[in-house]
Amino acid sequence: MRRMRPADASAAADVFYAAQDELYDRLHQPRIPRNEASLTAFLERLVRSDPERAWVVESEGDGTAPDGAAAASDARLAAFGVAVQREAFWFLSFLFVRPKEQGTGVGRRLLERCMPGEGAGEQPAILATCVESLQPVSTGLYASYGIVPRMPMFALVGEPRPGSLPALPPSVRIRSFESIAEGEIDGHRRLVEAVGSIDHARLGYARPGDHRAWRVDDGRQGFIYVARGSGEPLGYGYVQTSGRVGPVALLDPALGPAVVGDLMQRARPAGAWLALVPGVADHTLLALLRAGLRFDGTPALFCSTRDGPRFEGYLPASFALL
Ligand SMILES: CC(C)(COP(=O)(O)OP(=O)(O)OC[C@H]1O[C@@H](n2cnc3c(N)ncnc32)[C@H](O)[C@@H]1OP(=O)(O)O)[C@@H](O)C(=O)NCCC(=O)NCCS
Repeated sequence: MRRMRPADASAAADVFYAAQDELYDRLHQPRIPRNEASLTAFLERLVRSDPERAWVVESEGDGTAPDGAAAASDARLAAFGVAVQREAFWFLSFLFVRPKEQGTGVGRRLLERCMPGEGAGEQPAILATCVESLQPVSTGLYASYGIVPRMPMFALVGEPRPGSLPALPPSVRIRSFESIAEGEIDGHRRLVEAVGSIDHARLGYARPGDHRAWRVDDGRQGFIYVARGSGEPLGYGYVQTSGRVGPVALLDPALGPAVVGDLMQRARPAGAWLALVPGVADHTLLALLRAGLRFDGTPALFCSTRDGPRFEGYLPASFALL
């Protein structure tokens, strides 16, 4: 076992797809779509942000590469785990073991290396992760450390019927992140503060580096929703031309349907929209279902050592980085 390096990201993506494909094939479920370039870039980003929480397990190869040619090195990745910590919130983003090596304690040992150790900076108040509800092994493994399933999170896909989502109330004003950061004196600092205060209220931690990556690396467009008149921040949301909506964080969960409807008018994806919606964000969940979006696959389960983020007014960025 050794620290994961950014250069391991592509091999780790290969382990991810090998483990996922075997699991879904065994359960007669459709395989998840592949996007190796984006997964590799995302893994690299997480390893750079939290280098001490990313580990790999190498296994001795037999000297041949998968295509039969002589392998450049005898070692290949058997497993990898990546966790991140934002203030006192520790989150396991990935834990994957090649099918042939599963069930022999590799996953447990890797998880323990990714977990916070003594003297490893700020000690987290909460340990958390998201699991697939169809996977009892990981769910049981994490539960053995007190990280237990607390809430389902649904992937909703589709196109809302025109006029089916409410309009924003006239008391709410929308500003793009760019218009604040670039158009006002001290705008960047004020934007970071506003977004950080919303994250603290909803999630219990701030994450300026993740916001930068969502805008700069992913090309997500960010919007802040403020009270007309006072200018008080009410929430923020992102939309991506790929069709992804999120993260969305709102102080008042009742604004969810109108904010998601507004975000969906700010981009025109080639395919369907995709939003990840926690079960307790019921205003948004019901509005999207009634607007015609549909559940995609089985839900993920948010697991944690105790109650933490207030998901009523929150839609995560992904299941691997809330
Ligand atoms: C999930 C995964 C990472 C676990 O790694 P692993 O090396 O296979 O697991 P380990 O042998 O270290 O530990 C397995 C633990 O799972 C738990 N477990 C297994 N089956 C279980 C069940 N039916 N109910 C409850 N707990 C169960 C046990 O706690 C077991 O530990 P123990 O044998 O010490 O009691 C690996 O199996 C994997 O990559 N699976 C496919 C991809 C995947 O689902 N990844 C997680 C996505 S959320």
